[in-house]
Amino acid sequence: MAPRKKQSPRAPQRLNRTVYLIGFMGAGKSTVARRLSRLCGLASIDIDSYIERLAGMPIAQIFAEDGEEAFRRIETQALRDIAAMEPMVVSCGGGVVTRPENLAIMAEGGTVVHLRVTADQAAARISDTSSRPLFQDLAAARARLEERLPDYEAAADMTIETGERSVGAIAHDVRRALQRSGVMEDAGSGDPA
Ligand code: S3P
Repeated sequence: MAPRKKQSPRAPQRLNRTVYLIGFMGAGKSTVARRLSRLCGLASIDIDSYIERLAGMPIAQIFAEDGEEAFRRIETQALRDIAAMEPMVVSCGGGVVTRPENLAIMAEGGTVVHLRVTADQAAARISDTSSRPLFQDLAAARARLEERLPDYEAAADMTIETGERSVGAIAHDVRRALQRSGVMEDAGSGDPA
């Protein structure tokens, strides 16, 4: 279950806190985390993939066989495990904000970045909904996003608009915001962690 580690030859960066990417399904959290990892030479991890390894089955199967509540319990366990690891970029599942304990875990040692997307933009990005049991229907997705939006906003230390923008442009914005806030810095500067 080793986190992904990519080295950038040009501008390796270091995180002094774990960075949690949150936002609705289809916001691009996993892709942006991978791009940031490559761009900045940072470790990254995807909570959904971690959960699938923990449970030994795909997310859709966990929902189908054990239900959403069981999935949420594993999700919180995964978050706890990851919070105890070295600081890295973490792409969260869209529902991570639905449990108060998750919000507490992320706030305690991390910086939370909200990748904002509308349900219509998300639907255009998601090519295969079979792996997303909670994104089966656009009207329901719009309602779910509207319900969650205040939670994403309350949890976020910073928000990045994703709109129709490219992964590269979004990753650059996230990097700039993290550098400005001092969460990300040159790996060569300061005392090693
Ligand atoms: C969920 C989002 C999914 C996955 C699960 C539940 C949600 O992750 O965790 O299907 O409740 O929004 P993505 O946001 O990566 O699709």
